[in-house]
Amino acid sequence: MLHNDSLETWDRENFFHPSTHLAQHARGETPTRVVRGGEGVFIEDRDGRRLLDAFAGLYCVNVGYGRQEIAQAIAEQAKELAYYHSYVGHGTEASITLAKMILDRAPDHMSKVYFGLGGSDANETNIKLVWYMNNVLGRPKKKKIISRMRGYHGSGLMTGSLTGLELFHKAFDLPLSQVLHTEAPYYFRREDRSMSEEQFSAHCADELETLIMREGADTIAAFIGEPMLGTGGIVPPPAGYWQAISAVLKKHDILLIADEVVTGFGRLGDMWGSTFYGIEPDIITIAKGLTSAYAPLSGSIVSKRVWEALEKGTDDLGPIGHGWTYSAHPICAAAGVANLNLIDKLGLIDNAKSTGAVFRKELAEALGGHANVGDVRGEGLLAAVEFVEDRDPHKLFDPSRKIGPAVASALLERNVIARAMPQGDILGFAPPLCMSPQEGSRIVEAAADAVKSVLG
Ligand SMILES: Cc1ncc(COP(=O)(O)O)c(C=O)c1O
Repeated sequence: MLHNDSLETWDRENFFHPSTHLAQHARGETPTRVVRGGEGVFIEDRDGRRLLDAFAGLYCVNVGYGRQEIAQAIAEQAKELAYYHSYVGHGTEASITLAKMILDRAPDHMSKVYFGLGGSDANETNIKLVWYMNNVLGRPKKKKIISRMRGYHGSGLMTGSLTGLELFHKAFDLPLSQVLHTEAPYYFRREDRSMSEEQFSAHCADELETLIMREGADTIAAFIGEPMLGTGGIVPPPAGYWQAISAVLKKHDILLIADEVVTGFGRLGDMWGSTFYGIEPDIITIAKGLTSAYAPLSGSIVSKRVWEALEKGTDDLGPIGHGWTYSAHPICAAAGVANLNLIDKLGLIDNAKSTGAVFRKELAEALGGHANVGDVRGEGLLAAVEFVEDRDPHKLFDPSRKIGPAVASALLERNVIARAMPQGDILGFAPPLCMSPQEGSRIVEAAADAVKSVLG
């Protein structure tokens, strides 16, 4: 469709897009897609093309597009009070209510929630809180943070360092020296193929402990991990992983930060990835599903133990020197309240569990037997298909062949959006939690067809 405006030109001339090949885009070699509307699991571009968004934006539009309840809550809040800050004890009805709703849903040992704007800044906050805590507790050397290879925790200076993906370090002088990376809990890609899942979990815990002993436990403050790896490949942890890791962390008095930016609020068919896998975090990071991305909002939920140290810190040192202008922004908080109410009202966490099970079963049936599919995996409504050149012996494709992106493009031609994950030939699915089994079947059908068109 031709448009009598210049949006595409303006885009190339003015808009610095994140996570984009800047030169190709500026030269007009990659398309600009102007998205105009959305409803349920579908988005529509301004040419009227309707696409089934099987990645919920960036796994965030959990309640689906076009929810008038949230739009209305945002509008009402904007009319009544668009902004007031939350420094020195100020709050709004929306922000205080949302804090209460989050804690009502959080594990019992959690105590308070600090609000930020996105997952990256929430994790920056978390690391500052951990450092502050250890200074207050008189252990100033205990500052290093351990993350996993293939973990994703954002793209700021510290969070980009925590992220264990090459793309986010290359030419940015990252990771910073306070960050260490340990083995990814990626059973499918284990080096020693003879290991059982439990043995591989024990191996990951051994690797972690070796790193801690090498650096000295008195220098390590915290371990950060997503309950289930997300951007690094959508990989559920191997059996016994979190139990083995938690035991090592407890032994060396190292805090555990569960980054639930993707898994929080129901994506795995449980309110939290932490409760689902039996993790007891000291801090939980939340974002995306908190507002279903209707407004930017994140949070750091801290445990009673962390909170006690923070209180002591301010008694010793005065008010905490941390805050953003937009912390607990009332419009975003109003979106959060409406979103959490909607998740409850529509039973979306149960739907993620039941529809997720059907979707993943159909995906495995349709693709699991393909000669170039090595693994179909997931939990709830988070799933991935990993492509291999040979299943036996286990041989990955040469990355330069870009098989994952080719399958994602073929799927897009079939009007379904899935994500070619950034490291490996992995096709990721994270549809809105309101997806119906029929919509799931449509994704699977299109995916099978797309795989056939690329790989035969
Ligand atoms: C687990 C996890 N943590 C943190 C982030 C960063 O969040 P944001 O992009 O909102 O900064 C993401 C984003 O995808 C994420 O998946």
